[in-house]
Amino acid sequence: MKIGLIGSGDVGQALAHGFTSEGHDVKIGTRSPRENLVSYSDASSFGEIVVIATPWSGTKAAIDAAVAGNFKDKTVIDVTNPLVMRENGPPELALGHTDSGGEQVQRWLPGAHVIKAFNIVGNAFMYKPEFPHGPPTMFIAGNEGDAKVAVTRILTSFGWETIDIGGIEGARLLEPMCILWVLTGVRSGNWNQAFRMLRK
Ligand SMILES: NC(=O)c1ccc[n+]([C@@H]2O[C@H](COP(=O)([O-])OP(=O)(O)OC[C@H]3O[C@@H](n4cnc5c(N)ncnc54)[C@H](OP(=O)(O)O)[C@@H]3O)[C@@H](O)[C@H]2O)c1
Repeated sequence: MKIGLIGSGDVGQALAHGFTSEGHDVKIGTRSPRENLVSYSDASSFGEIVVIATPWSGTKAAIDAAVAGNFKDKTVIDVTNPLVMRENGPPELALGHTDSGGEQVQRWLPGAHVIKAFNIVGNAFMYKPEFPHGPPTMFIAGNEGDAKVAVTRILTSFGWETIDIGGIEGARLLEPMCILWVLTGVRSGNWNQAFRMLRK
């Protein structure tokens, strides 16, 4: 498939590597197009699936530059976390409980099918995480069934178990999991972690 990435940073590069390795065609968007990087609007118009991977503070500007109409009827993977960085201590969420970044992205892109995914793990493990006890779990949230099927297919190929937790309001639960992931890393000094659902 054709994948457009809005964001050329750590997440954009990690996911681009994953998509390319799985045989997809990728265009990575940036504010400063140059060799191998295109404009946000070129990336969004190219992608059959579009991934948003920008810092929360720049996400609205990035979506505006990518042009909302280019996302119409497309599956949009929202990897963002609505973080407010602090000088002393882990980041905090800019919003939560009654709203989420995922819902805000869906409001900014009303014609798109926004699926929250990949936001609960560090970029180093987004593709082929390969943990010793088997695939870790990626929770996804979004309003449209076919889009969730498409994202689940991608996650499976990337080496994840997927659990669908329902509508995009589920991002209210998934975004705090990012803080949990960061806190466990800070406190243990070990960043080689991912969540996994256990069952019996
Ligand atoms: N890093 C992780 O491991 C991780 C894991 C899970 C979720 N996330 C979330 O994923 C998102 C991306 O994380 P990242 O680490 O890849 O971030 P990053 O490296 O800082 O992202 C840089 C990208 O964002 C663009 N950008 C920055 N400010 C912008 C602005 N004001 N307007 C438009 N574009 C702007 C940059 O544009 P230029 O190319 O023009 O510089 C670049 O393409 C964040 O929301 C983060 O919370 C990160």
